[in-house]
Amino acid sequence: MTMVLETVAGAGVTGTLTLTVREARLLCPGVRHVVLTDEGGRALPTFTPGSHIAVNWAEGRHNSYSLTGPSIEPDHYAISVRLDENGHGGSRWVHDLQPGQTVRVSRPRSAFAPILNARHHILVAGGIGVTPMLSHVRAALEWGRSFEVIYSFRDRQGAHADELAALCGDRIVTVSTPEELREALLPKLGDQPLGTHVYTCGPAPMIAAVAEWARECGWPPGRVHSEAFGAGPLPEGNPFAAKLGRTGMIVPVPSGTSLLEALLDKGITVPNLCRQGVCGECRLSVRGGEVEHRDLFLTDEEKASGDSIMPCVSRAVGDRLELEL
Ligand code: FES
Repeated sequence: MTMVLETVAGAGVTGTLTLTVREARLLCPGVRHVVLTDEGGRALPTFTPGSHIAVNWAEGRHNSYSLTGPSIEPDHYAISVRLDENGHGGSRWVHDLQPGQTVRVSRPRSAFAPILNARHHILVAGGIGVTPMLSHVRAALEWGRSFEVIYSFRDRQGAHADELAALCGDRIVTVSTPEELREALLPKLGDQPLGTHVYTCGPAPMIAAVAEWARECGWPPGRVHSEAFGAGPLPEGNPFAAKLGRTGMIVPVPSGTSLLEALLDKGITVPNLCRQGVCGECRLSVRGGEVEHRDLFLTDEEKASGDSIMPCVSRAVGDRLELEL
């Protein structure tokens, strides 16, 4: 996860740490690696492989970035951030950090953990989507788990490519086009024994392609895991009204305003973090009405059941939705 998760301070980000920039350097064009430590030299909280931290880059603004370093009582947290020239400024802020500066970050949060009883792990990374794979690989090596990596990146854009190659030895294949990725992955998907899990992090089209290839090869969805950069630009959607089941309060949700924003504007507390339909933090129960699911968090089964909504991106199909609030 990189550059995508932006939230409002205090809304779902608990347990803040104040850390010092120990090192900041360019890994490859557009990608900066930043190492954060405790000023007193204390070990930092252990985290699950694939975890991320929310970095507070302005009053009320956070971006979340995957931790790339060791996960057990680490003496540092490391993030690698791609500069997003069209973003809101969070990645630029990280790119301007200098050693000695202090940074407020959340405690690590897990949203892309390895399946511990899997017999084999296939890790597929696209571009800066390599970042959560680093902690997966470190943990797999430490615990003797069976794994392999396919890393897709453009010429000279391979952040952490050398480090990953050194960690993985002959367990990594690098590719640079969607066709090469397909060629490398399809035979593996077609020839994996029960108990193998595949993990994808990268651009949404790559994640969708891997999921589709896995489906074609007969993989059950429960063995295919992904971490996307966000739901992407979404249409503004039709206006609707949300009825709060417990109080009967009606909250209008205009076109172009998310259900989450409309609820927060009314002073209703809804935990949230990414506002991109990715993290799962804002999940609400639905009592009535049909949901237009636009998130990347709920499973197909959960979406079909219609009893949950991610209000940061999803809306009502009709003009009314009743919430368990
Ligand atoms: S805030 Fe992350 S899914 Fe809604």
